[in-house]
Amino acid sequence: MDRFRLGFIGAGFIAKFQAVALKMVRGADLVGVHALKGAEELAAFAQDSGLGECRVYPSVAELCNHCDAVAVFVPNFVRVDIVGQIVDAVKAGAPLKGIICEKPLGRTVAEARQLCALAKDAAVPTAYFENQIHMKAIRAALAQLAPTQQAMGPLTLARSAEEHGGPHEPWFWDPTRQGGGVLSDMGCHSIGSAWFCLTPAGKDPRFLEPVSVNCETALLKWGQPQYRQELLDRMGVDYAKVPAEDFTTGVVTFGNPETGQLVKAQFTNSWMYDKQGLRLYMDGLGPGYAFEINTLRSPLEVFIGDAAAEAVADAETALEKSTASRGLLAVEPNEADLYGYVDEIEDAVAAFRAGKDAFLNWEYGLEITRLVQAAYLAGERRATVDLTDAAVQKELDSYVSLIAQGKGADVLF
Ligand SMILES: NC(=O)c1ccc[n+]([C@@H]2O[C@H](COP(=O)([O-])OP(=O)(O)OC[C@H]3O[C@@H](n4cnc5c(N)ncnc54)[C@H](O)[C@@H]3O)[C@@H](O)[C@H]2O)c1
Repeated sequence: MDRFRLGFIGAGFIAKFQAVALKMVRGADLVGVHALKGAEELAAFAQDSGLGECRVYPSVAELCNHCDAVAVFVPNFVRVDIVGQIVDAVKAGAPLKGIICEKPLGRTVAEARQLCALAKDAAVPTAYFENQIHMKAIRAALAQLAPTQQAMGPLTLARSAEEHGGPHEPWFWDPTRQGGGVLSDMGCHSIGSAWFCLTPAGKDPRFLEPVSVNCETALLKWGQPQYRQELLDRMGVDYAKVPAEDFTTGVVTFGNPETGQLVKAQFTNSWMYDKQGLRLYMDGLGPGYAFEINTLRSPLEVFIGDAAAEAVADAETALEKSTASRGLLAVEPNEADLYGYVDEIEDAVAAFRAGKDAFLNWEYGLEITRLVQAAYLAGERRATVDLTDAAVQKELDSYVSLIAQGKGADVLF
C-alpha cells in the first residue's frame, strides 16, 4: 500500500506534538509543512525522525498539491482564512483526500458552521481532532465495562477535567482572538470526552441528545493584581481591561432518544492548576461500577533534589506545561500516545484512505462548539440553558459571548 502523505499547516506546539505522535503511526509520512514560523525546524525534525522527505512550502496551495491530506494546526483566529485557501486549492485541482482541523472547530457557532460549509463545498472528507476521545485509557475502560453496562445499565454520570497553569502563547490568553478563555480552549475537550464516555457502546458519538447546559465562568488567579501584572509582562494581555475566565465548571444533560433516560456530563477546566503540569482527569459512574483516569499518575517518578536542580534546563521534558523541575516529578514517558494523538491520526488516515470522514467529523466539531457556546450563554445568564428550546437554538446561531467580545469585565468582575 502507498504511504499516506500528510501536510501540516502550522508548526507550533500542537504540530510538533502531532509529529512526535506520527512516529508511532504506520504507513503515514509528514511530507510538507507551511507556517509563518517554525516550518524549517519542524521539517528538520521530520527528516531526522524518519517521518519522510519533508519540505517547507511557501503557500497553502503548494502544500495541498503535494500531499494526500492537510492538517490545520494554526491558531483559532486564522482557521476560516486557511480553510478557505485549502478549498480554493482543491477547486484548482489539489488531490486532497481529507482535511484535519484541531479543536475547537470554531470560536462561535457561525464560524464552525462556515467551516463545515467550506468542506462540503470542496467535497473533501473531514476529521475533527478531539484527541481525548481517542485516549487508550478511555477506550480500555469502556471496553472493560461493556458487559457490565449491558447487565447493569449505562453510565449515568461522567466527569471530565483538563487543567494546567496556563497556555504557552499570548493569543490563547486574548479572548478576542482565541474565542474566550479556558472554556473555549479546553472545555471543548472535556465536554466531548464526557459525552463520549456516556454514549452507549456502538452508538454514534452524537447519539445522546443534548438537553440542557449550566455553567460558571470565573477569573480566580489571573485577575489578581500581581498575577495580572505577570500576565501583562509575559504575554502582553491586560486582564484589567480584557479578561477571560481561567476557571469553568458546568453540567451538560443528555437524553437517550431510545429510552428517554437522562445522563449528565460534568466538565471542569482551569488555567490556574498549579500542580506538576497538565492533568487530564475523567471518571464515570454507573449502577454498581465506575472507572477513573488521572494522567498525573504515571508509572514513572523522578526525584531531583535542590543540589541537583541546577543541572535541569528544560522542565517541559517531564510533562506538558510542567511547573517544576525539582522535587518528586511525575514524568510521562509517552505523552503523545497517552493523550490520544497517535490513535486520532491512525483513525483519520484509515478513514481518508477509505474515502470517508474520520470517527469525529466537522459536523461533530460544530456540535461541540454549540455546547461550549451554550455554556458561555448559561454563565452570562446565571441560569440553565434549555437546548431543546427553538429560541435558544436560534440565538446560539449568531451568539458571540461577552468574554469573546472583549467585555469579560461585565461577567467576571
Ligand atoms: N488537541 C490538543 O491537545 C491541542 C493542544 C494545543 C493546541 N491545540 C490547538 O491547535 C491549534 C494551534 O495551537 P498551537 O498551540 O500549536 O499554537 P502555536 O501558536 O504554538 O502555533 C501556531 C502555528 O501556526 C502558525 N501560523 C499562525 N498564523 C498562520 C497563518 N496565517 N498561516 C500559516 N501559519 C500560521 C504559527 O507560525 C505557528 O507555527 C489551536 O487551534 C489549538 O486550540 C490543540
